[in-house]
Amino acid sequence: MAIISLFNHKGGVSKTTTAFNLGWMLARKGKRVLLVDADPQCNLTGMVLGLENLETSDSIQGTKNGRPLNIREGLAPAFESRPTPIKAVQCVQIPRNDNLFLMPGHIGLAEYEVTLGIAQELSGSVVTLRNLPGSIRYLIDMTAADSKIDIVMIDMSPSLGAVNQNLLSISDFFIVPMHPDYFSNMAINSLASVIPKWRTWAQTAEKTTALKEAEYPFPQTHPKFLGYIVQKYRPRSGAPSRAFQTWIDQLEDNVRRILLPAFKRADLMLPEPVYKKAGIDPTSPIMQMPDFNSLIARSQEHQVPVFELTPSQLEQVGRVLAATQASQEDFRQLFSDGADKVIAALDASGA
Ligand SMILES: Nc1ncnc2c1ncn2[C@@H]1O[C@H](COP(=O)(O)OP(=O)(O)OP(=O)(O)O)[C@@H](O)[C@H]1O
Ligand SMILES: [Mg+2]
Repeated sequence: MAIISLFNHKGGVSKTTTAFNLGWMLARKGKRVLLVDADPQCNLTGMVLGLENLETSDSIQGTKNGRPLNIREGLAPAFESRPTPIKAVQCVQIPRNDNLFLMPGHIGLAEYEVTLGIAQELSGSVVTLRNLPGSIRYLIDMTAADSKIDIVMIDMSPSLGAVNQNLLSISDFFIVPMHPDYFSNMAINSLASVIPKWRTWAQTAEKTTALKEAEYPFPQTHPKFLGYIVQKYRPRSGAPSRAFQTWIDQLEDNVRRILLPAFKRADLMLPEPVYKKAGIDPTSPIMQMPDFNSLIARSQEHQVPVFELTPSQLEQVGRVLAATQASQEDFRQLFSDGADKVIAALDASGA
């Protein structure tokens, strides 16, 4: 089992959209995939289950037959010092894709942020907080084993908080989604400074006896940069238009000059041969995804990725439908190529 997290503290750069579409594609390729919604906004849960049944839905609130139904309920034994141990979350099996599962999110996960932050700062010196840093990985491991998962994909919130520090640290791989704009370029500077700091913290935490010997032990960590993704550019005759290409060129330049050297120093890069075997050049995006245009609304309406919307879901016929299907085919190919690279990188690194 391999854990891949999608992280950028910059908001709205397609983390959730990528988790859903790429996760779905990985599942189509025969992997059993668990999507973890670790963002209190719960956008991924909304996208997968449909927006209307979120807050009121009994199926993802509380427990059922003694099993937690969402991430917060799953972590509650550790964070609320309950006498019962952490149990695997009863995941949602996603309709129309037998290999795809969801660990639903919960708005209340945000309430654990402060306590986890304190626990991570004190690194085990306060007995009652020792179980927290290892609890998230413990819950994911239990749940993944329960559903026989091959790949866990974590959708993270846009923040530099304690939960994200923990999630990135306990991941095997991380992907950085970006948009071709000024703000994503600015974000590269803080990513280059914060992620190595988190790495340093985790290296200390994993050597701390109190955390290693906790009820939920903090694991040995080794997160590695799988690559970055550029989403939502406006294409002109198949390629990004000049304005978008300028931003993409600048992203590549900043990744090469700022991000990768910082990651290299912090031992966050995979061995060179792994990238080679997977066909990934870490200085270029793993996937470069054009704007989905009207498909995104249909995708959200029907809880189906852009490349699997049917003609009746699209409500189109004739020439309009043919044009839409041609662009769906392009998106399918892009996500398929991206998924192949991810699988090849996991295979090559023995994950
Ligand atoms: N390729 C795309 N084409 C068109 N719209 C897109 C594309 N990717 C994402 N979007 C839209 O952009 C918005 C932001 O995307 P998304 O929610 O995936 O970003 P995010 O990084 O998860 O945001 P947050 O930081 O708030 O969690 C959404 O409305 C989504 O539907
Ligand atoms: Mg999101």
